[in-house]
Parts: sequence; structure tokens; C-alpha cells
Amino acid sequence: MTELPELTEPTELTSPAHPTEPVAFPQDRTCPYHPPTGYDPLRDQGPLARVTLYDGRPAWLVTGHAAARALLSDPRLSTDRTRPGFPMPTARFAAARAIRVALLGVDDPEHRTQRRMMIPSFTLKRAAELRPDIQRIVDGLIDAMIAQGPPAELVSAFALPVPSMVICALLGVPYADHEFFEEQSHRLLRGPEAADTLDARHRLEVYLGGLIDRKSQEAEPGDGILDELVHQRLRDGELEREQLVSLGIILLVAGHETTANMISLGTFTLLRNPERLAELRADPALLPAAVEELMRMLSIADGLLRIALEDIEVAGTRIRTGEGVVFATSVINRDDSVYAEPDALDWHRPARHHVAFGFGVHQCLGQNLARAEMEIALGTLFERLPGLRLAAPPEEIPFKSGDTIQGMLELPVNW
Ligand code: HEM
Repeated sequence: MTELPELTEPTELTSPAHPTEPVAFPQDRTCPYHPPTGYDPLRDQGPLARVTLYDGRPAWLVTGHAAARALLSDPRLSTDRTRPGFPMPTARFAAARAIRVALLGVDDPEHRTQRRMMIPSFTLKRAAELRPDIQRIVDGLIDAMIAQGPPAELVSAFALPVPSMVICALLGVPYADHEFFEEQSHRLLRGPEAADTLDARHRLEVYLGGLIDRKSQEAEPGDGILDELVHQRLRDGELEREQLVSLGIILLVAGHETTANMISLGTFTLLRNPERLAELRADPALLPAAVEELMRMLSIADGLLRIALEDIEVAGTRIRTGEGVVFATSVINRDDSVYAEPDALDWHRPARHHVAFGFGVHQCLGQNLARAEMEIALGTLFERLPGLRLAAPPEEIPFKSGDTIQGMLELPVNW
């Protein structure tokens, strides 16, 4: 198995000259499908290292697979970002620290109550039932690309609309409003200014609040998750309007941004690895394993955040109460004690235990849906456009910076 090549030559940061000096976190990737070369010194130090965040504050960075799974399932670590001392990766994130984020930003018992409410809509069975709808959406977008003719910009023509249309149908949000909420999600997650995060969040609150109010006035529920929650939980007082709006925002934003990035970056990675792509085309039954390996390799949500509520001993290290703990999924998922030749794309290995969807009680709620979307989107794209190729030199195609969910900013293609 050959390693997937880097797009750029390793920089001087690759040299672990001062392995014990705190490394800055987060950093930009030099190649969109490999962890930042600036994290290389951390790969041999594991499973925990000291890093410096954007504001100069120190935090623990977890890089080892066993330690990550132990800590991500430890209730002594909190995800409540409103707690003083919660580790902030960027000024943008810090600007939003007072916002109560549903699910991802709450601890038990509140988290358990919210999660139980959502689980029936995100089971494996439910994702399987959605497959024909996802297939229809994917086929329609590829038909439109073919009708338009090459070249195309794959992020806007395909990678973003697939999950956006799926989550709209699932939630009961009109897709006609997609430009509005895609733009706000983009501003929420990647600025450019810290003030954008707050403004975008506010606009999404107003938008979803209005939608929820309209749904509450309807005599019969429509068939989206928001409709169900309005008619079953809001009306009988089990959920407050503000909580429902917050749940709607996380589902809408997490439901399309992440999957869109996996589709664009997954396509780019496969096109850069023609041998693997040929194997996948010859045997589509490999798709589920390929998606799992791409999840491991790309680790697009690279920096999960927690704060210690008590002292915790792990792998001979003591994390003290109040210290920030950050999980570098890109490094954890390349722990060579778990994955042989971790920098190679190899779907014949068992990749299933990766932490690219997180681990423990906050493990991704939408993972069954995301897997179905990625399998159908990537499988159909390469089947229907056998000549698919990059329409620009790979090193010139822009990708996202390290302080956000990783993915391609644009993906020009021909076929
Ligand atoms: C490939 C695409 C996706 C990736 C890589 C991804 C990644 C993640 C990760 C790493 C977490 C855990 C964060 C943490 O522990 O700090 C998470 C949580 C979450 N994800 Fe996803 N996700 C994806 C797709 C989706 C989709 C399609 C939805 C659907 C609606 C979704 C909804 C959520 C929610 C609600 C949570 C919070 C769960 C909780 O706190 O209980 N995600 N996701």
C-alpha cells in the first residue's frame, strides 16, 4: 500500500526539533487530506500534549486513540462552552461563548433528555428509509450537471445541495430558503469576523423561530422533524420555543455543512488516488468501507472541545479541574498503534473505530444519515460520470482553513 502523496512539500515544521514545546492549535492543513504538518511533533509524543490556543491559553491536546475514547466517554469532561475557562479555538468561537447550543453544548441530564427526543428520527432504519429520496436528489443534481455540460464547480453544483436538500426535507424547512441558511451557516462557522458568528446565529434564530410559529398555527402537522416536535412536544410544554429553535439550528447547520465537506473532500481525495478509485468503481460493494476509511483519513471535524469538571488521570497524566481538553481527530485517527500505515488510504483495514464522528454520549446524531448520503453521493457521481477529473491543478484548488470544519472551498471538475 503506497501512501497518498502530499500536495505540498513538508515544511520545516515537520521536524520535531523541540518536541516538548507547546504547539499552536488549530493550524491550517498544508494538504487538505492530511493533518497539518505542524502537528507532526505531536504524533510521537502522545497520547496527550500541551498546546497553545489562539488567545495564548494552554490546553491539553489528545492525540492517542485509546486515551481519546476513554476521555470522550468520561462524564467528568463537559461540553458546556458557557463554563469559565472552556477552551476557545478561535476569536469567532469565543464571541459565541454565551450562546446555549442544544445537544452539543449541554451536559447530562439535559443532554440525555434532548438526545432521547431526537433518536427516533436518526436511527439506522430511518436512514435506510430515506435512501430512495437521497438517490432521487443525487440523480436530479447529476442530471442538471450533465444537461449544463462540463466544466462544473462541484461544491455548489453537488456537494452542498445534496445534504442541504436532504436535511430540509427531513426537518420540514423549505429548500427555497437554502441560499439564506447556507450563507448564515457559512458565516456562523467561518466568519470572517467574530461579529458575523453572532449576527448569523441571530438571523437563524429569527428565521427558524418564524417557521416554528407558522407550524404551530397549522391544525395538522406536516411531515418534518420540526413539525413533529411542534405538535408533540412544544404544544404540551415538554419543549420551550427557544430550545426548539436551538435544536433546529444545530440540526440544520450540522446536517449540511459537514456532509457537504465530506462529499467535496472525499471526491478530491479519490481523484488524487486513481488506483483506489479504479478499485472502487470495479466493485461498488466496497463503498461502505471506503466511506468509513475516508472518514478516518479526512477527519474533517478536527478539534472537539471539552473542559475538565474534576481532576482526571489518563495514561499517566493528570488533567486538572478547569483545564481545557481538545481532541485532534486527524491525529487520533492516525494513531499507528491502531492503524497500520495510517497515512495510506486503505479500505481493506477495519476503520470503523475511528473518532471522526466523535465518541461517547455526544457521538454524531446524524451519522447514519451522513453515511447514507456519502455512499449514495460518491457512488452515483463516479458511476454516472466515469470521466470525472479535476479541471485545475490540484495545488491551485482552494480548501478551508484549519479553524473550521475541513473541506474544499471550490472543486472545479470536467468529465
Ligand atoms: C460526514 C458528516 C458529519 C461529520 C463528520 C460529523 C461529525 C460530528 C462530530 C465529530 C460530532 C461530535 C462533536 C463532539 O463530540 O464535540 C458530531 C455531533 C453531532 N452531529 Fe454530526 N457530523 C456529520 C453529519 C451530521 C449530520 C448529517 C447531522 C444531522 C442532522 C449531524 C448532527 C449532529 C448533532 C446534532 C451532533 C451533536 C450530538 C450530541 O451532542 O448529542 N451531523 N458530529
